[in-house]
Amino acid sequence: MSIDALVRPCIADLEPYEPGKPVEEVERELGITGVIKMASNENPLGPSPLAVEAARKAAAGMQIYPDGNAYYLKKALACMLKVEPNQLFIGNGSDEIIHFLGITYLHPGDEVIVADPSFSRYDSAAVLMNARLIKVPLKDFRHDLDAMASKFSDRTKLIFICNPNNPTGTIVRQNEVESFLTKLPADAVAVFDEAYYEYVESEDYPDSLRYIGEGRHVVTLRTFSKIYGLAGLRVGYAVSSPEIVAHLNRVKEPFNVNSLALAAAQASLSDPNQVRRSRQLVSEGKRFLQQSFTAMGLDYIPTEANFIMVRVGLDSRELFRALMSKGVIIRTGDIFGLSDYIRVTIGNMEQNGRFVKALSDVLGR
Ligand SMILES: Cc1ncc(COP(=O)(O)O)c(C=O)c1O
Repeated sequence: MSIDALVRPCIADLEPYEPGKPVEEVERELGITGVIKMASNENPLGPSPLAVEAARKAAAGMQIYPDGNAYYLKKALACMLKVEPNQLFIGNGSDEIIHFLGITYLHPGDEVIVADPSFSRYDSAAVLMNARLIKVPLKDFRHDLDAMASKFSDRTKLIFICNPNNPTGTIVRQNEVESFLTKLPADAVAVFDEAYYEYVESEDYPDSLRYIGEGRHVVTLRTFSKIYGLAGLRVGYAVSSPEIVAHLNRVKEPFNVNSLALAAAQASLSDPNQVRRSRQLVSEGKRFLQQSFTAMGLDYIPTEANFIMVRVGLDSRELFRALMSKGVIIRTGDIFGLSDYIRVTIGNMEQNGRFVKALSDVLGR
């Protein structure tokens, strides 16, 4: 019998995540150096020096298992967010928490509502559990919360609201979320994925932690991968009710977050300067890129995150290859159903300048 026959049918339906090639490999293949990756929404400033030092110190004790309860990190986060430690769950990246939410709450045939396009890990969490994925198209590149609410049924279990949305960088506003939550079925959980929360500049951005305080079935996800520059260490967290956190705690492996990651994440919280500088860099970079796109006559989607989608007017895969040959890696829009758009991570000013020059050369604008 073929080994394939042993696989649960829903696993066969899962799409494996396609990571990009390492920068070094791209350089080797193209015979060039100095390739810049503006594809995964990482922080060009890197981590706080305090985080690096804390990880270095923790490395000397790596023969010991990590603190499976993340005691100190939870304490520091609880203090910063004004919640109780038992309202916090720490994951090996917020990716892991998305996965755990699916395992914890989805029975076969339950419904998961997501926006389209949005972050693809929600889809995987649903497919893995044999749940029904309901994809609701964005409206003007933003979540259409009314249309999402119109899909509520007695099988609705999880609703993922990516805010700001990856890949469009758009947000849902406070008044929209409030009206949406009044319609939320009693036995469904609304998940606000706020991976890019710290970059948002809009005044209308909802305070999702308030909804948790009001006793609603809400989970807020945040991460140390983006503004804190710790993507390689894998730390994300969920804020929710103590009950939901207790469910997730049953599902997790005992030592899901390693000790270097815990130490670095905790140290990052004591360096607000790094966060301020990162926010400033993105804010300046955003203005520069938006002005450059306008000067080139290109439409873009105004963003609240550290990436931006721009309409390039040709097949984005073709543009990807042309930019790559000039040493700039971006994300193509076809994977999001927007084939003539690209998504570019806002880099430092040198990277932004190189990207704009390469784009202008390739497009002849
Ligand atoms: C919207 C969104 N959520 C979650 C994640 C995953 O972040 P983490 O590195 O914490 O797993 C990403 C990463 O790109 C993201 O864009």
